[in-house]
Amino acid sequence: MSAANPIGVFDSGVGGLSVLHEIRRALPSEDLLYVADSAHAPYGDKSQQFIEDRSIAISEFLVSRDVKAIVVACNTATGAAIAALRSRFSVPIIAMEPAVKPAAANTQSRVIGVLATSRTLVSDNFVQLFARYGADVEILGQACPGLVEQVEAGDLSGNKTRLLLEQYVLPLLEQDADTIVLGCTHYPFLAPLIQEIAGSGVAVIDSAAAVARELRRRLEVDNLLADVGRAGSECFWSSDTLDKAQPLVSQLWQAEIEVSALPTHAVRPRPE
Ligand code: DGL
Repeated sequence: MSAANPIGVFDSGVGGLSVLHEIRRALPSEDLLYVADSAHAPYGDKSQQFIEDRSIAISEFLVSRDVKAIVVACNTATGAAIAALRSRFSVPIIAMEPAVKPAAANTQSRVIGVLATSRTLVSDNFVQLFARYGADVEILGQACPGLVEQVEAGDLSGNKTRLLLEQYVLPLLEQDADTIVLGCTHYPFLAPLIQEIAGSGVAVIDSAAAVARELRRRLEVDNLLADVGRAGSECFWSSDTLDKAQPLVSQLWQAEIEVSALPTHAVRPRPE
């Protein structure tokens, strides 16, 4: 494995671009390959087996492009597939973890809310986080059906998005939460609206920057950091139709970029 190889990043859709932004900030010299599995989003209402199959197929695609590390930029795929990925692939695999630890350290009211998909909230990873920090602070898990779809539709501030967010955020405030953890990588794109609804006294936090730091640390340990001084590149693939993927990825990446179709061997849709 060479330091010049790229880094692979994937998500059920475009949410992982929030992580990719932080990776780009932390590692400006790296070449980044991003796969959005938008044809199959949301993962949150799919079976564990389906999510595992998709995560393996996409990781095989990334490994075929010689990635030196894979970032699972999806909390739901982390919960459902991380063990299968780590047992199957030898490249370092960096996973998401909702930012419950910093939230528990910073809350004044001792109540934190976690917005995530239903599947993330029942995953072993989350149950363990809950057990680790739930003794000191009250952790309110709030499932958010429909939010991933709003981001996948590029609707970050419309009426429907606002109504859904009010439905999910206001009950947390009523229960005195002063910190809201975004436990799904799609949600940072809704952070301005979440902050507006929650008010300035509430901290809204996510774990994208922490994941980028952990990626950097892993590459450093393995002597795999790209040469500084070179400018890194990005390549994007989507399993969705390109007429939908192209404008959406450009909107969220904040640049006109080209999206390629994910090769069919990595698409492999299966009936639920
Ligand atoms: N971005 C994914 C996550 O972090 C969304 C999951 C989904 O597609 O349901 O959980």
